[in-house]
Amino acid sequence: METSFKLTATDKAGRYACFLPLLRQFISGESEVVSVLANTAAALREAFGFFWVGFYWVKEDWLVLGPFQGSAACYRIRKGKGVCGTAWAEARTLLVPDVEQFPGHIACSSLSRSEIVVPIRVDGRVVGVLDIDSDRLNDFDETDRCHLEKVARMLAETLYPQAE
Ligand code: SME
Repeated sequence: METSFKLTATDKAGRYACFLPLLRQFISGESEVVSVLANTAAALREAFGFFWVGFYWVKEDWLVLGPFQGSAACYRIRKGKGVCGTAWAEARTLLVPDVEQFPGHIACSSLSRSEIVVPIRVDGRVVGVLDIDSDRLNDFDETDRCHLEKVARMLAETLYPQAE
């Protein structure tokens, strides 16, 4: 089995439009959390070339590093801390055009310049976050937010099919 996530569309919306059905098909029917998150991170990296893309998963009072693509990252983030912990605490997507302007930003790489963090919700509760970093300023916009929130919903439905 070989699945390619190399996309031909040149505009961002077109790339997401091709990517979403490919990802849905690729992860459907698998509910092993680590496996699905690992393949989703790999697919996002292959399709969009993100500098860092991965997951932090809720374990008690912490977000704990999960599957990712990119350089080594910090293991644990407290609720309310950094961009990831704030997105968890506020249960909403955070778009950060310039990480240096975000109070308390946690720098896992000094090359990271902008970031988007999307919570993954199951039955109204945040179970983890999708975190994507760019080495360019202002690299994420409403197109990313809209489509990455679809990725988050797809993951929640795939991993927790019994949830409402
Ligand atoms: N920048 C994040 C930490 C995780 S790394 O970007 C991989 C934050 O402030 O929560």
